[in-house]
Amino acid sequence: MELRDGSYFIQNVSVIDLAEQFGTPLYVYDAEKIIHQFKSLKMAFSGADVKVKYAIKALSNVSILKLLKRHGAGADAVSIHEARLALHAGFAPSEIMFSPNCADFSEIEEAVKLGLIINIDNLSFLKKFGAQYRSSYPCSIRLNPHIMAGGHYKISTGHSNSKFGISIYQLPQIVEIVRQYNINVNGLHVHTGSDIYEADVFLKMAEILFGLASDFPDLKFIDFGSGFKVAYQEGDLVTNIYDLGLKLTQSFAEFCRQYGRKLELWIEPGKFIVSEAGTLLVKTTVVKPTPSVTFVGVNSGLNHLIRPMMYDAYHHIVNVSNPSGSQKMYTVVGYICETDTFGADRKMNEVQEGDILAIRNAGAYCYSMASNYNSRLRPAEVLVINNEAKLIREAETFEDLLKGQVDIGL
Ligand code: LLP
Repeated sequence: MELRDGSYFIQNVSVIDLAEQFGTPLYVYDAEKIIHQFKSLKMAFSGADVKVKYAIKALSNVSILKLLKRHGAGADAVSIHEARLALHAGFAPSEIMFSPNCADFSEIEEAVKLGLIINIDNLSFLKKFGAQYRSSYPCSIRLNPHIMAGGHYKISTGHSNSKFGISIYQLPQIVEIVRQYNINVNGLHVHTGSDIYEADVFLKMAEILFGLASDFPDLKFIDFGSGFKVAYQEGDLVTNIYDLGLKLTQSFAEFCRQYGRKLELWIEPGKFIVSEAGTLLVKTTVVKPTPSVTFVGVNSGLNHLIRPMMYDAYHHIVNVSNPSGSQKMYTVVGYICETDTFGADRKMNEVQEGDILAIRNAGAYCYSMASNYNSRLRPAEVLVINNEAKLIREAETFEDLLKGQVDIGL
C-alpha cells in the first residue's frame, strides 16, 4: 500500500474504492508483493539448488497457492487438509512437504497414499513408519537443534522444551531405528521458530545438521525451515536474506563437497512471502474519548486478526480516509467482548466515525487464524493482481454459522 497524490493505493487500485466496492472488514492481498518476496528468496539462495516450499499455514487461500505455484514454489503442509488444498491448487504430490506435529499417524498413512514427502518428528512415529514401510517409501526427519530463537516464546520451536522435532541428543536412537527397519532417510529438517532476524541462528543450525548428516547416506535435501523476519514497524530488525543466503549457500556447498554429493537446499517461508502483502481494511464504528484515552472502535476484532492479542504483535494502522489530517493519539480496539486491542497509544491522522483504517502486515497468520468467536462472520478476501481487484473468498453469511449444527428437535 502506498500514498500517491493524496490517496492510498495497492498497485493502481484505490484502497477507499476497495472498501466501497467489497465492504468492510476486508482482507486485501497484493499479488505483486507476494511474487516480489518469493523471487527475492530464490535470488538470495541462488548459490544452491534451492527449493522454496511455501508454508501454507500462513495464508491458505487457494488463489494464493495457485499464484505461488505458477511462479515455481513448492508447498509445506502441516495437516492433511493443507496438503489437500495444495493438491487442489495444482501442486504435484512430490512438491509437497508434509510436516505434521502430534497429528494422528493415519494422516501420515494418507500422505503416503497421496505420494507426499513425509517428515517425521518423533521416535515413536519413526518406528511405526519403519515397521510399516521399511525402505519402500522414503522419509525426512525433523530434528530439534536445541536453539532458542524467534520473536516470541509462543513461536519458538527449536529449543529444548519445545514439542517439535526429535532432539539431536537422541541421534543414537534415530540411527538405531533407521538401521533396524532399513528406512530410506531422504532429508533432514529443522525449523527453529518465526521472526528470527539473526543470520547466525540459521548458520548455527546448519552447522549442527551438517555435523550429523554423515549418519544418513541417502539424503536428497536439507530443509532449513523458515523464520525469516520482515518489518512490522519502522526500525524493526529484519533478516537480511541476501547476507544469509550467501553465507548459508557457501557453507552448504562446502558441506556437499564433504558429503560427496550435491543436495537440494530447502526453505519453508510463510511470513516472509505474504505478511507485508496483506492489509485488513476496517471501518471506524465509534470514536470514544474517555478521561484517559480516546478509543477508536472498529468493525473487526481478534476474531479476524489475533496476533496483537496472542503474541503482543505490533501491526501498523493507517487512517486511509484522512491521509493529510493532523495527528492525534488513539487506542484502536475491536468489537469482541473481551480485551481486544489492535494498537494502543497510536499516533494517527484524526479519525472520524466511518473512516476506513488499514491494518498492515495482515497477510500472514491473520485470515488463517481467524474464527467465528462472538458469532462474528469472517470477512471476504480480495487479491489485487495486474492492477485489478479480484474477489478470492466471499464473506461468510449467517447461514455459515448454522452449517453443520444438528437440530435435535429441542
Ligand atoms: N515451517 C514450519 C515447520 C513451521 O512450523 C512454520 C511456521 C514455517 C515453516 C513458516 O514460518 P514463517 O516463515 O512464517 O516464520 N502464528 C504465528 C507464527 C507461527 C509459525 C508456525 N510455524 C505468528 O503469527 O507469528
